Amino acid sequence: MCGIVGAVAQRDVTDILVEGLKRLEYRGYDSAGVAVINNNNELFTTKRLGKVQELVQALEQQPLSGGTGIAHTRWATHGAPSEVNAHPHISSNTIAVVHNGIIENHQALRTQLQGLGYEFLSQTDTEVITHLVHHELKTSDNLLAAVQKTVKQLEGAYGTVVMDSRDKDNLIVARSGSPLVIGYGLGENFIASDIMALLPVTRKFSYLEEGDVAQISRFEVKIFDIDGKPVERAAKEVNVSHDSGDKGEYRHFMLKETFEQPTAIRNTLEGRIVAGALDINAFGEGADEIFKQVKHIQIIACGTSYHSGMVARYWLEELAGISCNIEIASEFRYRKSFVPKNSLLVTISQSGETADTLAALRLAKEIGYKSSLVICNVAGSSLVRESDIAFMTKAGAEIGVASTKAFTTQLVGLLMLTVAIGQHNGMSKEKQGEICQSLMSLPAKLDEVLALASSIEELAEDFADKNHALFLGRGDQYPIAMEGALKLKEISYIHAEAYAAGELKHGPLALIDAEMPVIVVAPKNDLIEKLKSNVEEVRARGGLMYVFADSDANFASDDTMKVIDVPVCDDIIAPIVYTLPLQLLSYYVAIIKGTDVDQPRNLAKSVTVE
Ligand code: G6P
Repeated sequence: MCGIVGAVAQRDVTDILVEGLKRLEYRGYDSAGVAVINNNNELFTTKRLGKVQELVQALEQQPLSGGTGIAHTRWATHGAPSEVNAHPHISSNTIAVVHNGIIENHQALRTQLQGLGYEFLSQTDTEVITHLVHHELKTSDNLLAAVQKTVKQLEGAYGTVVMDSRDKDNLIVARSGSPLVIGYGLGENFIASDIMALLPVTRKFSYLEEGDVAQISRFEVKIFDIDGKPVERAAKEVNVSHDSGDKGEYRHFMLKETFEQPTAIRNTLEGRIVAGALDINAFGEGADEIFKQVKHIQIIACGTSYHSGMVARYWLEELAGISCNIEIASEFRYRKSFVPKNSLLVTISQSGETADTLAALRLAKEIGYKSSLVICNVAGSSLVRESDIAFMTKAGAEIGVASTKAFTTQLVGLLMLTVAIGQHNGMSKEKQGEICQSLMSLPAKLDEVLALASSIEELAEDFADKNHALFLGRGDQYPIAMEGALKLKEISYIHAEAYAAGELKHGPLALIDAEMPVIVVAPKNDLIEKLKSNVEEVRARGGLMYVFADSDANFASDDTMKVIDVPVCDDIIAPIVYTLPLQLLSYYVAIIKGTDVDQPRNLAKSVTVE
């Protein structure tokens, strides 16, 4: 949430900072700003309300130049989106600060600093950091010492970068709760909240750890831990495609990422299913030892990742014979929960940085979970570093705020987890082989599903004038209905709810009329006859149905029902197969409604504040 980029170089860094902001815009996009120090030690700042493009236009009209600079794209927490609340914030025309996170004691610090004569221009919590650094600098040897004293007074979460126009050779950065990564160049160094921002300039990164403060200059990076002791944070080369920030031939990232799913799944499977069997190394060193002892699984996640966990619960209990619970991270972290013996904590996260999920993992360790696994898409992220073992989805960078390929690759990882746990719980070799074979059939099956795009585009017309929609599913398709409803809400702003179809008569039936389209996910499976009865309940009350079903399910289109023919697939992978038509439906509805598909209002891709 919010994006940070900073650079210290000999060359002019403004273009590097702006390119970084464009690449981070998916993290927050209500305002953006940049500050640079020029060769005469003068500080210049430009900020704009709205997208990074607004900032780009402002800089075209009035260019800034300088070799040291910081930039920020904002997702508002304290203070409405506005130019004055946009970062960087400035104190006394010398100190400039960008910040991700929330300073919880900002009110007390604000009052204290006002008492010292500081005048606040914005409503943000961040501005307290700016003035506090300026104040501490009066009694410190250098900017590093001033920032070290400042962060000791901050409560809450921060990833922050500070610069001083009187010291243009250094950026001081500090991390607690919000990720920061240092990028190493030749005679120039960088800082960002996410490696994506820096891929055009470097592939060599090191992640700061909780409590770290670092001084970044052109030729040197000095890192200090929470106690101020010098520490090393290993630098690693990453192997990510530079073009992952590019839409290519597609109109939106979301469409590109939807169509990338067969490849993303192929990449996620590669080398993990060998000769028809699961390679346990997919879960990292020590995984099999952990899996052997596990008697219960607790899954924790947020948003779309939570829905993949919900599907996994059906798989783990039915196929792997292990009890499994799933909870939203923001609930789990604030209640006292019971820890069954030999429990494995599984977090699921695209970004690996979601604040609530990370806090839940840390809490779980405190309350007695002995082992933790993360299913994650970002190597080196906080959840990966803090979990005992990790399954990396190989979805590639996901830029669209609405998650698509991250979700389906998570499901692939969770199905592999089902096999990994199942083999210690009596799952037959034959069953294991069947699941692996179904997984291997997925990429080709998804290509068939994507061929439905144009018919789903036509169908989307029916939804454009609607204000509400109801999604129905049963069994492992119920979470898919939830995911379908979330996608529609997120990008088309149509209110959508999902119900387990058996619950219809306990409330939602009262909502049914011609203005409430009902979308049903209905592969032929053991529950199909039950689902058909639910469909009839809706039909009898004048509801309009849109049924995604395979030919074996035997639905027929008529005046009250449109049937969209989904290719027949194995039961086990049906949740993945049925996800894609719902992603496409919400995409095309959003296109007709003219909403901002990749950056829907009020949302952000990586939610690093609670
Ligand atoms: C945000 C994103 C969602 C995502 C959720 C959890 O709300 O917009 O797409 O599902 O965060 O994120 P994570 O990175 O933990 O999967």
